[in-house]
Amino acid sequence: MIKIAPSLLSADFSRIAEQVATVERGGADYLHLDVMDGRFVPNITWGPKIIADLRKLSPLAFDAHLMIVEPERYVEDFRKAGADVITVHWEATVHAQRLLAHIRSLGAKAGLALNPATPVSFVEDVIEDLDLLLVMSVNPGFGGQSFLPVALKKIREARALIDARNPNCELEVDGGIGRANIAEVVEAGACVIVMGSSIFGTADPGAEVGAMRKLAGSAR
Ligand code: DX5
Ligand code: ZN
Repeated sequence: MIKIAPSLLSADFSRIAEQVATVERGGADYLHLDVMDGRFVPNITWGPKIIADLRKLSPLAFDAHLMIVEPERYVEDFRKAGADVITVHWEATVHAQRLLAHIRSLGAKAGLALNPATPVSFVEDVIEDLDLLLVMSVNPGFGGQSFLPVALKKIREARALIDARNPNCELEVDGGIGRANIAEVVEAGACVIVMGSSIFGTADPGAEVGAMRKLAGSAR
């Protein structure tokens, strides 16, 4: 089953309650929350306070994508704020295995993200520690960038690794996905599709969630 994860990065925060309600009604599975610190990535977004406030608006599963240095310092705060999935970057932490185990011990799903330059083989030895593997299809930091074709090869590699070693692990892809390429991304093996501008950049983001699900369903 494919999960659609609208990214709030491209939402209009002056009417955030309405934007969240729209994608919820449209059938979104996850609400993808991009946390950026201006150090790991050249952009700054929000922290646990905003996520805790959003938590009051919606029962949707919250998928927190931490693009921050030293994520081990903050995972507890994000769990307390209401994150259901906590994804940290492989490139941002020295002791990934310890951190993933810690995230699980907090009762959240543990996710690990790979920048476009980081090979899938680098996570082979922690694949059993993962509930979600995130293959970035853009360099993280901004919405509205173009999909990097190298991601398709990596999704196929990640799918093979997951099928062989941890079939319950979700395979998420994030960046540059829209109507034109969602089917291709699903065919390659992704099951959680993050989309920011291609959902919130439309007049009816809720309807767009449904349209994307249809396109994803036609893929396999
Ligand atoms: C980028 C973020 C994405 C972003 C994707 O660093 O991780 O979640 O919102 O935006 P689009 O779908 O517009 O590429
Ligand atoms: Zn993201």
